[in-house]
Amino acid sequence: MLIDNHNRVINYVRLAVTDRCNLRCNYCMPEHGIDFARKSDLMTVEEMKRLCSILAGLGVDKIRITGGEPFVRKGVMDLFAHLGGLPEVREISVTSNATLIGPHIDRMKELGIQSVNISLDAIQAETFARITRRDEFDKVYGNIMKLVDSGMEVRINFVVLKGQNESDIYPMMEFQREFPVRVRFLEEMPFNGGSRDFKGLEWNHRKILGHIREKYPEFEKIPGPMTATSVNYQIPGHAGSFGIIPAFSRTFCGSCNRLRITATGDLITCLYGKPVANIRDPLRQGATSLQIRALLEEILGQRAKDGFEAQEQFGPVTGSSMSSIGG
Ligand code: GTP
Ligand code: 5AD
Ligand code: SF4
Repeated sequence: MLIDNHNRVINYVRLAVTDRCNLRCNYCMPEHGIDFARKSDLMTVEEMKRLCSILAGLGVDKIRITGGEPFVRKGVMDLFAHLGGLPEVREISVTSNATLIGPHIDRMKELGIQSVNISLDAIQAETFARITRRDEFDKVYGNIMKLVDSGMEVRINFVVLKGQNESDIYPMMEFQREFPVRVRFLEEMPFNGGSRDFKGLEWNHRKILGHIREKYPEFEKIPGPMTATSVNYQIPGHAGSFGIIPAFSRTFCGSCNRLRITATGDLITCLYGKPVANIRDPLRQGATSLQIRALLEEILGQRAKDGFEAQEQFGPVTGSSMSSIGG
């Protein structure tokens, strides 16, 4: 079992399979001049498979595949198939923008993937185009319908952006009234790849909940696991539910069970930190499972207690992009 220096069990790994994305959300990356990783620096699918097998042997029972957009990476379904064959891993999931997921849904279900998180910050086509700088709304909407029809659990991540998508909050609430999806409203974070200034947070979790309460005064809290990032609510009679993720306020660090691994194998022990070591190189140089384990134990033995301490230790995060960290 992997345990950090604050006695938190690390059983959840977020593995980014690429830093590339086919959208250009303005709160995540700039339109041009992005310094993507070179292909030779990415972990190969075989390296990722071996890494996941080692992690499973160390007590990791939840693996979330992230990106960039995971489905732009060739071989991602091969990786899912490998994960599906690891008995220790009880939950495999993916965070995707849903533009390319359509053709893979049936196979994902066969492999035992039960839930997907979709990044979607708008439910009106014009808002979507403005934020993502791409015209893919119809495709995304169609794929979400396919996911819902397939019976998979669908969570939608909606980052609340001042001046950009406030007018989509209530329509998004109507969407969860009609369809069995969980819409999670996220606080914006400063990881925008330097694409714009981050002048503090206006839409914090209290303001988001207050805004929702104005139109939907009646809701009940849904109990969730200790380690959850979202606080979730159900409105009587609605097919779906909604939640709020205080990603900037960082109210959930005390129970943080997550380790992040970027597509180039950098290990990130806190979202608000920076890479503390690289795991691709030892994997490539033939390190044994025991050596990999020792490296993981070493970095987890020096983990910041929360995202505020991490930021103090590592400095500002404004230059980093979520597309390389994996969210
Ligand atoms: P579930 O497995 O559905 O609980 O997903 P998740 O919330 O772990 O994953 P998802 O990829 O949907 O993440 C959604 C967002 O939650 C991220 O983009 C972050 O905004 C926020 N989040 C997830 N993990 C952390 C974390 O460790 N720290 C902080 N500050 N925010 C996080
Ligand atoms: N602030 C908050 N969330 C962000 N994401 C990407 N960039 C940011 C940001 N600057 C979210 C995406 C996705 C998740 C993995 O990270 O919307 O759902
Ligand atoms: Fe974990 Fe850091 Fe996120 Fe807090 S901010 S929940 S410590 S990754």
